[in-house]
Amino acid sequence: MSGLVDPFGREVTYLRVSVTDRCNFRCHYCMAEDMNFLPKPDLLSLEELDRICRAFIRRGVDKIRLTGGEPLVRRNIMSLIRSLGNHIASGKLKELTLTTNGSQLAKYAEELYECGIRRINVSLDSLDEKKFSSITRWGKLADVLKGLDEAKKVGLKVKINAVALKEFNDDEVDSLIEWCGQESFDLTFIETMPMGEVDEDRTDHYLPLSIVREKIENSWTLESTFYQTGGPADYLTVKETGKRIGFITPLSHNFCESCNRVRLTCTGQLFMCLGQDDWKDLRTPLRLSEGDDKLLEAIDEAISRKPKGHDFVIDRSNSKPIVSRHMSVTGG
Ligand code: 5AD
Ligand code: SF4
Repeated sequence: MSGLVDPFGREVTYLRVSVTDRCNFRCHYCMAEDMNFLPKPDLLSLEELDRICRAFIRRGVDKIRLTGGEPLVRRNIMSLIRSLGNHIASGKLKELTLTTNGSQLAKYAEELYECGIRRINVSLDSLDEKKFSSITRWGKLADVLKGLDEAKKVGLKVKINAVALKEFNDDEVDSLIEWCGQESFDLTFIETMPMGEVDEDRTDHYLPLSIVREKIENSWTLESTFYQTGGPADYLTVKETGKRIGFITPLSHNFCESCNRVRLTCTGQLFMCLGQDDWKDLRTPLRLSEGDDKLLEAIDEAISRKPKGHDFVIDRSNSKPIVSRHMSVTGG
């Protein structure tokens, strides 16, 4: 069975799956307080998501990341994770991983590890309890810290994702680095991306990571590393802590040349690029027959349409979202 190669010669080996667009938090840059979520009847069942993942694995995908919304709030999600974990055990998948807000980790960390998950990304923008509640609207820092403790205890490697926000957490950059050093977590700063209508103007809090990095370099020694994820982050090592630090700057420069990924939503839309609106429906071919021929055909066709890159811009003259869907639909 041949692999998935796009028109620009990039091999697609990484599938990100948003298993739900729902979340128990309402982070300001991500969601409006009063969100319209996808109607439940439109959702693929967990068995259907599993079938699509299996089709991608047949086509050479060897890394799957579950995202959301918050993946761990989807009912019975562990049944999907357990099933995907079988492909880790068989060696067909090299990595199964998860992006989570951490609120459910105290409950699930151990089971995640049992399913073959070894690394997780946890979103955390502030270590200040009040600020954490204010940015997430509904979140409690203590729950996430408890979850992180449990993750550490069972042996999951953790990378913290912090969205850099002007006049919000710009004063916490050093403390985040220090804390990640103590906890032995890697850390990635992310610029806000103009995805989906939220209740405010994102340009108000847009903080270019070039500024964050300059500030960091006043207090820490950043050494270049050869660590490459195939992903959008530039990784460095903080000499003083020995932990990695990454910067995801989709707005300020282009990382599309090495893009190896596509994104599936919980309704079966396949997005070939995070920054473009084009998508391919996989739900219809999936439901057409019990065999996977139609589904595989649709996947191949989608990859042949993968665009060269995105064109995110965030500036004062155009603060409207460049793509209308929220990050929680495609899972970042
Ligand atoms: N811009 C940047 N990051 C975002 N996230 C969610 N929405 C946005 C946005 N508009 C982040 C979350 C999480 C990751 C999955 O994406 O904080 O870390
Ligand atoms: Fe939920 Fe993550 Fe969006 Fe926050 S950023 S509302 S935790 S999906």
